[in-house]
Amino acid sequence: MSSISFIGTGNMTRILGTRALAGGNTVEVIGRDAAKAAALVSELGAGATAGVSGSVPAGDIVILAVPYASAAPVVSQYGDALAGKVIVDVSNPFNPSGTGLDTPEGTSIAEEVAKAAPASAHVVKAFNTIFGQVLAQGRPDVFIAGDDAQAKASMSAFIESIGLRPLDVGDLTMAHWLEGAGLLMIGLARNGVGNFNFSLGISTLG
Ligand SMILES: NC(=O)c1ccc[n+]([C@@H]2O[C@H](COP(=O)([O-])OP(=O)(O)OC[C@H]3O[C@@H](n4cnc5c(N)ncnc54)[C@H](OP(=O)(O)O)[C@@H]3O)[C@@H](O)[C@H]2O)c1
Repeated sequence: MSSISFIGTGNMTRILGTRALAGGNTVEVIGRDAAKAAALVSELGAGATAGVSGSVPAGDIVILAVPYASAAPVVSQYGDALAGKVIVDVSNPFNPSGTGLDTPEGTSIAEEVAKAAPASAHVVKAFNTIFGQVLAQGRPDVFIAGDDAQAKASMSAFIESIGLRPLDVGDLTMAHWLEGAGLLMIGLARNGVGNFNFSLGISTLG
C-alpha cells in the first residue's frame, strides 16, 4: 500500500485518485481552494482525506496534478515541506496549438521541478503519456523516468497496485523525451488514430 498526496483538484487527481483508492492506497487531496479539495474528497469517498495547502503532505508520494507552468513554482512554494518525498510530475508542456513543447530545448518540466525541489526529495516523471479517459478505464503501460532507483521502485509499486505496468525509461533527462511522447500522442489523436481512446504501449516478441 502506498500513501499518495495529490496537489491539485482537477481531472488527473479525480481519475488517478479513484484508481489509487481502488488499489488499496490512501489518498490525500490538497487544493489551493479548500472547498474544491473537500468536494473532491467527498466524491472520492472512503480512504480519501483533505490536506492543507502549503504544509507537509501526508503521502510519501506527492503527485503534482497541476498545469505544467505551475509544477516547479508549486514545488518552490512548498519548499522544505516536500523534503524526503517522491515528487511525481505528470505534466505535458504543450504549446497553445499543441504542435510543440513550451520548454527550452534540452530540458523538461520534470528537470525544472527537480531544481526547485529539496535535495532530499526525488523526482519521477510518470503518467504524462496517458490520456485521462484511458487512465480512467484502461490498462495502459506507464512510462517512468527518474534518477533515484528507490523512488522509481516506490512509484512502480504504486503503479502495480492500480493494475498497471510500470516501464522504466531511464534517468530524469529522459523526461524530455516522455514530454515529446505526450506530443506524439496528440499528433496520433489528431491524425492517424483520430480519437483519444488509445494508449502507447510496449509489445515484445516471443
Ligand atoms: N487530463 C489529462 O488527460 C492528462 C493526461 C496526462 C497528463 N496530464 C497532466 O496533468 C496535469 C493536470 O491536468 P488536469 O487535467 O488534472 O488539469 P485540471 O483539471 O485543469 O486541474 C488543474 C488543477 O491544478 C490546480 N492548480 C493550478 N495552478 C496551481 C497552483 N499554482 N497551485 C496549486 N494548484 C494549482 C488547479 O486549481 P484551481 O482549481 O484552484 O485552479 C486545478 O485543481 C497537467 O500538467 C496535465 O498536462 C493531464
